[in-house]
Amino acid sequence: MSKNIIVSNRLPIKISKVDNSFEFTPTSGGLATGLKSFHKQKNSLWVGWPGIGSDKIDKILWPKLQDSLKKNNYCPVNLSSKEIQNFYYGLPNKCLWPLFHYFIEKSSFNESHWKHYVEINKKFSDVVLAKIEKGDTIWIHDYQLMLCPKMIKDSRPDVKIGFFLHIPFPSFEIFRTFPRRKSLLKGVLGADLIGFHTYDYERHFLSSVKRLLRYEVNFNKINLGIREVVVNTFPMGIDYDKFNKAAIDHHSRKASQQTELKKQIELHKKSVKDGKLILSIDRLDYTKGVLNRVKAFEQFLNKFPEYLEKVRLVMLTVPSRSEEPQYKKLKKETDEIVGRVNGEYATVNWTPIWYYYRSMDFDELIDLYSSADIAMITPIRDGMNLVAKEFVSTRINGDGVLILSELAGASKELFQALTVNPFDINSMSNTIHDAINMGIDEQKQRNFSMQKRIKRYTVKYWADEFISSLNEISVVQENGVLKIDNKSSEIIKENYKKSSNKLILLDYDGTLVEFNEKPGLAIPDSETFKILKDLSEENDVAIVSGRDQHFLDKHFSDLKLTLVAEHGYFTRNYAERWSEKANFNKDRIKSFKPILDSFSDRTPGTFVEEKLNSIVWHYRKSDPELANSRVVEFKTVFDSLSTDELNLMDMDKAIEIINAQVNKGSAVSEIISNKDYDFILCIGDDITDENMFESLPKNSYTIKVGKKKTSAKYYIKDPRQVKSFLSFLTK
Ligand code: UDP
Ligand code: G6P
Repeated sequence: MSKNIIVSNRLPIKISKVDNSFEFTPTSGGLATGLKSFHKQKNSLWVGWPGIGSDKIDKILWPKLQDSLKKNNYCPVNLSSKEIQNFYYGLPNKCLWPLFHYFIEKSSFNESHWKHYVEINKKFSDVVLAKIEKGDTIWIHDYQLMLCPKMIKDSRPDVKIGFFLHIPFPSFEIFRTFPRRKSLLKGVLGADLIGFHTYDYERHFLSSVKRLLRYEVNFNKINLGIREVVVNTFPMGIDYDKFNKAAIDHHSRKASQQTELKKQIELHKKSVKDGKLILSIDRLDYTKGVLNRVKAFEQFLNKFPEYLEKVRLVMLTVPSRSEEPQYKKLKKETDEIVGRVNGEYATVNWTPIWYYYRSMDFDELIDLYSSADIAMITPIRDGMNLVAKEFVSTRINGDGVLILSELAGASKELFQALTVNPFDINSMSNTIHDAINMGIDEQKQRNFSMQKRIKRYTVKYWADEFISSLNEISVVQENGVLKIDNKSSEIIKENYKKSSNKLILLDYDGTLVEFNEKPGLAIPDSETFKILKDLSEENDVAIVSGRDQHFLDKHFSDLKLTLVAEHGYFTRNYAERWSEKANFNKDRIKSFKPILDSFSDRTPGTFVEEKLNSIVWHYRKSDPELANSRVVEFKTVFDSLSTDELNLMDMDKAIEIINAQVNKGSAVSEIISNKDYDFILCIGDDITDENMFESLPKNSYTIKVGKKKTSAKYYIKDPRQVKSFLSFLTK
């Protein structure tokens, strides 16, 4: 039976050493808590680091340990203490975490961290590769493992890979500052499906892919030649029933069954009439806005002294990455600010902030959530924030107020919360006042809508939706178009060998040569020339190009080829003169020159190319997003000015205005009308080549370079593969 392999830096448990034994404790963080329920319900294997240096565990304990992990379907990636130091405390936590959360000043990059990042990603990938069985699906998680998708895909192109980023993906302007930005993007693009919590993160990612890698993006699909990567938004949910039912259960518990924490809270409630508890729960992390929250609470007490001795902030901060200097500093600052506020406002009977620096178990969390009147979840930046959702799900009577940062991913879904800007201390302190004074009806109304959403879009829903989207993606063939692989190459070759009248039609740019920023430099290498020579000695071979006569003459006049220039406007058989299509009024085309010039002036990196019978606007080097909107704008202008005589061709990073009567289709129709061919092969990459595919007899072999919408029968990856395929035919 096939399985899902979850891959994350951490397993949901960490091993701690107890004298000569070990024990498992749950790891903190939304990724682990969220995926735990998915792991339980499916045929699933979880690959990850068990949270301790492998050198710290006694060798004698290993078999028992492996056994316990196996029972839970956990597959450990064992890292030594040194590897943990170099990897975990290196690139992920010193560079990517702060950068992706917009703390650019805290983010530092160094080459050796990058080297270790590559090494450990490889180590994870190797463990996964060894576990893959037929039909398995791989789901890789988070910023620690962004290179794994490509590493795994390179070895196993047949396996479906998903990747989910649990933290924000920053805007292009932030991401571009990362020195290995392209490698990181390419690493993630090894996945077939990439998921983010919010649409903003998705669009930032796509924008970086477009601008840095210059890949073609159609809505949420990235074209990688033979493969297409789908990018989508999947906001992670929680196990609503688990939290809701636990809250109901705790509500009905007798005093003797209550946790110590609950008893303490009850005491507080009894001792203060009209008292209110404000709750905050987060890992102690600078992204969580702990300091600003305490400042806002301090300002609230200062501005509204009538609430002194009545309103208390219960702040649970869970230790996280505590070896890291930035986190040590934050711990010190938090201790200081809490000490200062408590020192300033405490009375004999009352301390304004109850501050816990530890993690709590599920029962205690439920008591905190369900006893609080207000939850103040105000991260400075947060991918999602599950705590906010967990709080809402425990409000079994519908009361309680959620104050939520607008910079947490969860705010996109929980817009009935009181949303705040976590940098605006003044407004946050006023919001605390508003929350305290919110009427019960309004509280219920807001919570009802939020509960409805959280109840429906649970963590199960999230995971199922991701996995079913991943399963819908085909890694082998798309829309009936087949891949050129060993098997299909053999079939084509067999037919090629047994045919006697063969025609080979080849597009030029993007087919025989890769695109080049300087078109004059895009010329075939000697090997390609040799292949063309071999092919043309035995067969009729035509290069059907958008290039002009001069360029084709310069490079191909020595070979026995038919040349078609300017998309079919000029044709020349070997050793003959160029023949021109019927004349037409070129002035109509020329009249677009000033318009295109003005587009170029307004769009840096673009230029106009005038050919004898057409005019082209190239935008390969410009900002892709600006260029796309300019193309739409130009199409409107063109439609309002053109006549049936002209066509606008949307090509790869260029648009071209041509005579409507002329296209590559009519050019090849003319070629095939001259002879009775029993084998026709046609290869091309862009929209103009579709005209060729469509005008050829049905039994022709038509091949599209790159995985774009096509009427061709086959896909091939890129010009390099075209070269090896043609060379294979000649042997
Ligand atoms: N959590 C926990 N023990 C604690 C405090 C929090 O297990 O003492 C859990 C909490 O229930 C939530 C997760 O940790 O599921 C925190 O996830 P969130 O998305 O809010 O933040 P992250 O830590 O992932 O940044
Ligand atoms: C966030 C990240 C997780 C990470 C967790 C705890 O939720 O998205 O990938 O596991 O924080 O951080 P830690 O460094 O302890 O794994």
